[in-house]
Amino acid sequence: MSYHVPVLLKESIEGLAIKPNGTYLDLTYGGGGHSGEILKKLEEKGRLIAFDQDSAAQANIIKDKRFQYIHGNFRFFGNFLRYYNISHVDGILADLGVSGFQFDFSGRGFSFRKDEKLDMRMNTGTRSTAEEILNNYDSENLTRIFGQYGDIHKPDRLTNNIIRFREKKRIRTTRELKEIVGRIKPSINANKYLAKIFQSLRIEVNKEKEALIEMLNQIPDILNRNGRLVIISYHSLEDRIVKNFIRNHPTPKAMADGCQNCNNESNKDCLTRFKSNLIPVNKKVIVPSADEIRKNNRARSAKMRIAEKVIR
Ligand SMILES: C[S@@+](CC[C@H](N)C(=O)[O-])C[C@H]1O[C@@H](n2cnc3c(N)ncnc32)[C@H](O)[C@@H]1O
Repeated sequence: MSYHVPVLLKESIEGLAIKPNGTYLDLTYGGGGHSGEILKKLEEKGRLIAFDQDSAAQANIIKDKRFQYIHGNFRFFGNFLRYYNISHVDGILADLGVSGFQFDFSGRGFSFRKDEKLDMRMNTGTRSTAEEILNNYDSENLTRIFGQYGDIHKPDRLTNNIIRFREKKRIRTTRELKEIVGRIKPSINANKYLAKIFQSLRIEVNKEKEALIEMLNQIPDILNRNGRLVIISYHSLEDRIVKNFIRNHPTPKAMADGCQNCNNESNKDCLTRFKSNLIPVNKKVIVPSADEIRKNNRARSAKMRIAEKVIR
């Protein structure tokens, strides 16, 4: 079993422009594919600190005296670094989303291709599962997450089906969720539709949007001058947040609202207003080559952005 095939490996490591004796963070350790490559570029005084909130990732910990692993959510990475007396780092990598292991082998209901309990927690120590959301959220909130996190067309139709089903019986498994969707999913791109529904639930269960915004907000203070940030994202909501963060361009509406980490959901670009001191390294977003996608189909939706800290 391969735990995870790292995506955009060569490009992301190049993007970090690693200083051999620098200090680096891998915020999403998973199978350690990216971490392993970072370590290869580090010399004796180099240091790598990696985070993952899924305890399963601990099975992949690399034994190396330059490496430290922290089981925790990256939204608190600044606190962890303070605890370890690390004030600044030279590069930060975040390869967002879920690992191949989580999809294929965790048994937590991430994939619509399996019949599993609707859990979807990356950190099984947290409270809310997909089952709880599907059975307890009111229709307004269900429609919100399917619309915003899944870009589902007419999300209220899906919500109505869920409410009708759960009036008779508690929704517990991925098979039952597929049964609920069955009647309304389009005949073309049916799997894509299912994937979007599962994705939106996963984002809500793991509070992925909130974690990403909190993580990004800590980066400007922690990166050293000329330090690099490399972020790989897998859906448009994440990529938009990262893009806005790096460009440091709040929308006029965000400016008018004076919103900080705003929740103005009607304006998709108004996700947050950052005071960033980063500049993009590449004009265009970086995507995997056709060859990489052919070898690893899961890479197909990846988008990578690289930024460098500047002192203004
Ligand atoms: C796409 S995988 C990373 C794969 C890794 N780059 C590799 O080469 O194996 C994403 C990983 O990030 C972890 N993760 C996602 N959100 C997280 C968060 N907020 N805090 C910590 N870990 C997170 C997941 O548990 C998962 O293991």
